[in-house]
Amino acid sequence: MLAEKLKKDTLQSHQQLEKMLVGRMKAIRSKEDYVKLLQLFYSYFGGLETLIDQHIGQPELNDYAERRKTQALADDIKALGGKPMPKADGENLPEINNALQAFAALYVIEGSTLGGKIISKMMAQQLGVNDGKGLSFFNGYGEDTDNKWEYLKNALNKLTKSSDKDKLVTDSANETFDKFKQWAEKHT
Ligand code: HEM
Repeated sequence: MLAEKLKKDTLQSHQQLEKMLVGRMKAIRSKEDYVKLLQLFYSYFGGLETLIDQHIGQPELNDYAERRKTQALADDIKALGGKPMPKADGENLPEINNALQAFAALYVIEGSTLGGKIISKMMAQQLGVNDGKGLSFFNGYGEDTDNKWEYLKNALNKLTKSSDKDKLVTDSANETFDKFKQWAEKHT
């Protein structure tokens, strides 16, 4: 099944990205530092979303409109007194020319709601935030996060019927992770 392959075949690129981000998050001491992290997510995920929107809508994924959007990141940035930075484009993004590549990028974005649980706890602790201000994006779908993840995995499993197509999706998901790491390295 595609969802399982995605998990297995992107494990390494997820771990590399996670390691780098955890290092950065541990160093966050102020709201200004945290705003920089939010800007990183806003600019990369925002760029991805612009491309994904050209290939995925309600017909391709029933609950797409209800899914978390980068607007939540812009709101978090503003709530903390910052300004969103320009979105990534061109070579800084993976190739997204069709629905399969768009689903691969969506897998990466939506999967970050799982790590987001850890990120929001870490940030709340380090910044002493107890009203959730600036944490809406990393809180994902709250108690609905696991359900939404299961729903997406189901949709992914119905998406392809050949291992060639599976490979296209896993390659694309790896490219999405790797380009995020490169984007983060450019914006230290
Ligand atoms: C510091 C950061 C991160 C931590 C600590 C982290 C941690 C985790 C954990 C614990 C899971 C497994 C959750 C579960 O199975 O219930 C997970 C899954 C996942 N994360 Fe992360 N993550 C981080 C950042 C990210 C980012 C930035 C992205 C995307 C750009 C991402 C994408 C994913 C994906 C796609 C999965 C799903 C794997 C699968 O089951 O197919 N993660 N993450």
